[in-house]
Amino acid sequence: MIVNSIISLSGDKSISHRSIMLASIASGVSRITNLNDGEDLQSTIKAMQSCGVLIEKEGDTIVVTGSNLENPTEPIDCGNSGTTSRLLTGLLSSQHLSFSLIGDESLSKRPMNRVITPLTEMGCTITSNDGLLPLHIDASMGLDAIDYEMPIASAQVKSAVLLASLGSQNMCTIKELKHSRDHTEIMLESMGADIEVNGDNIDIKPLSSALQSFTMDIPADPSSAAFFIALTVLLKGSSLTVQNILLNPTRTGFIDVLGKMGVQGLVSNPTINNGESCGDIQFIGSKIQSCDIPAHMIPSIIDEIPILAVIAAFAEGKTVFHEVEELRFKESDRLHAIIKNLQLSGINAYEEGNNLVVQGGKPTKMAKILSFDDHRIAMAFIILSIVAFEQYDIDNTDCIDISLPGFFNILKEIQG
Ligand code: S3P
Repeated sequence: MIVNSIISLSGDKSISHRSIMLASIASGVSRITNLNDGEDLQSTIKAMQSCGVLIEKEGDTIVVTGSNLENPTEPIDCGNSGTTSRLLTGLLSSQHLSFSLIGDESLSKRPMNRVITPLTEMGCTITSNDGLLPLHIDASMGLDAIDYEMPIASAQVKSAVLLASLGSQNMCTIKELKHSRDHTEIMLESMGADIEVNGDNIDIKPLSSALQSFTMDIPADPSSAAFFIALTVLLKGSSLTVQNILLNPTRTGFIDVLGKMGVQGLVSNPTINNGESCGDIQFIGSKIQSCDIPAHMIPSIIDEIPILAVIAAFAEGKTVFHEVEELRFKESDRLHAIIKNLQLSGINAYEEGNNLVVQGGKPTKMAKILSFDDHRIAMAFIILSIVAFEQYDIDNTDCIDISLPGFFNILKEIQG
């Protein structure tokens, strides 16, 4: 089997969430194409509609008419989406609303204290189920400014504070020692917010007038592309070009890790789209070397660690991912899910402190994949099984619709 193809992919999920949320509070009409087509985005769209925002489909374009948000009459169901839940805490607080957030079984186990702490400091009254959903947030008394040093590298937490700051009394400052994805900062700046990034510090002033509406064609999601790129680099004689992919450096850590593994991506047609770097990228089938991935690179590969661990399973030698404890708080405990599935396929993988160690070789057993109902675990291990055994067996594929409903069609399409 080989891959030989040129593909376009659905838009970046992180940018898609932010585009719907920020267009909702902008003045005027925003037009968005290539919005991520996964279920998580439906959670964000329904949430904004429940706050009175008009969001319509005109052909392939999502048209958002910005407005003053209203208190939702029912709890907002964030489904499986951590980004929807964390970013909404900040966005709706900035509008001084009173609202409740609920989610599915997985989201209801994910930590919310990381947003409860700074928002409480800003003056929100918050009740939760011991740091978990359901959350009730009352921001009707207005918000104080905050000077916040991020205790963990998390773009969701950083974004919650940034968005809340738009409705605070005074300028807020966020200090981030480990840099996480910066799409909120980029989009806010391009919509006219008063935001300044200086090294580790972000200064943001409350809005003195509404954000400007925008038109954006969202570039392809690199986190989705990573699965097809992995298949390509693991199959000798293969070639894949992904067109108009997001190349923001806070998101392309997996391309840098592939470089350390001896695999080079070839970028062409670089452009800037609404402040975000994008371009085409080509990969070919390659010999994979093991490598050491330092802690400072982890935020830029946080969603790609499952598929990078799969690539490492085919490398010669031991690959170590340093300080990956944040993996425990994703859609599943991904550290456990990665190790379990690698071990089931005959690969020696284990935790060493907060590190993930993968002893490369070749998977020897075609085990039934355990998805843990986590889209990225399901897709990563389907790729492992296809490369090693040209077939797969898995307990559940429905979860893939969370971020990439077209996964199986694209898999078929790219085979040369
Ligand atoms: C996201 C941030 C990351 C990432 C998630 C999307 C975002 O989460 O894992 O899939 O859009 O801000 P953390 O901020 O919790 O690391």
